[in-house]
Amino acid sequence: PRRIKLAVIAGDGIGPEVTAEAVKVLKAVLPGDVELETTPFPFGAGHFLETGEILGDDDLTALAGHDAILLGAVGGDPRDPRLAGGIIERGLLLKLRFAFDHYVNLRPTQLFPSVASPLANPGDVDFVVVREGTEGPYVGNGGSIRRGTVNEVANEVSVNTAFGVERLVRFGFETANSRPAKKLTLVHKTNVLVHAGGLWQRTVDAVSGEYPDVAVDYQHIDAATIHMVVNPSRFDTIVTDNLFGDIITDLAAAISGGIGLAASANINPDGTFPSMFEPVHGSAPDIAGRQLADPTAAILSAALLLDHLQLADAAARVRSAVEADLASRGDAKRSTSEVGDAIAASLSRAQN
Ligand code: NAD
Ligand code: IPM
Ligand code: MN
Repeated sequence: PRRIKLAVIAGDGIGPEVTAEAVKVLKAVLPGDVELETTPFPFGAGHFLETGEILGDDDLTALAGHDAILLGAVGGDPRDPRLAGGIIERGLLLKLRFAFDHYVNLRPTQLFPSVASPLANPGDVDFVVVREGTEGPYVGNGGSIRRGTVNEVANEVSVNTAFGVERLVRFGFETANSRPAKKLTLVHKTNVLVHAGGLWQRTVDAVSGEYPDVAVDYQHIDAATIHMVVNPSRFDTIVTDNLFGDIITDLAAAISGGIGLAASANINPDGTFPSMFEPVHGSAPDIAGRQLADPTAAILSAALLLDHLQLADAAARVRSAVEADLASRGDAKRSTSEVGDAIAASLSRAQN
């Protein structure tokens, strides 16, 4: 039988609650000849506060020995001074994305038929954001001087390499070319960020020649937020940098049923390192520990994991089970584990 070695970083807040449901669903959907071996890793704000450790080189080596990583969410109490400066987010989550060269952050957005959108006329919402994951303002070596004085100067730097932009743009064109609408929209801010924006636009123009069937469009990030709210069906494949992609995918989640449904994949397409699957949302300290979180985003992230491991049938079955579950949701609020149980049970029934 095939064996999948899955590293599970449940993390903080609602992370462990939603991850448990995603693992439950994976176990229910995998065919009998596929064995799932999960290894829990304790990393997160809680682990750091207990041990002083965030993520060391040995930890990276241990994680690298897995086929994939499932991550819940990381980040502790925002008021805790020991966690200031995004020490966990940068030292754990971003460190993983950079170390494992997750240059594609894939964030599909779909408004399922039975799900209510806050938009009056959402139309057909079905697009995917191909967000760059290893560059941009997330890695810039910024700095500040004269801190604590009225003359303080703070700089952030956005790093955009020809190599990094081109590989992401190519992945974007491949994605667009594989979808029925075959439309790629570059989202940036080329009217202000002329150096980085110029590189992105020139790269899209150059690569587009190889994809004659893909229609190419451009929108500034500010206008893109208008279109996403007023007429989201105009989007098919959005290609964008790390920071714009972060912001626009929270908006994409909000228009398509909420952050509790939004899945993501941090992919190393070359397969040199394990890819990592996680919901778009964070640790949600405001609702943590009370079984209030919707595990659907984590479960749909597990479906992306199945796709990545070439278990497309299983992935499709998870998506239909989620779709059926969404359609059956009434006004009665279910707990995190009740949602996971229902989806897992429908998969087990279908299996037999
Ligand atoms: P958040 O996504 O955790 O929460 C935003 C809002 O959405 C909150 O009101 C929360 O209750 C709600 N929400 C989130 N997930 C939900 C779910 N599954 N079901 C129902 N409601 C849900 O964003 P935040 O408050 O800005 O960040 C909290 C912490 O998480 C911070 O430390 C942040 O840095 C971290 N964070 C981590 C990740 C990650 O690990 N991938 C992603 C984003 C934020
Ligand atoms: C996300 C998160 C992260 C990001 C943070 C927690 C570093 O917001 O995955 O969307 O900005 O990428
Ligand atoms: Mn985000």
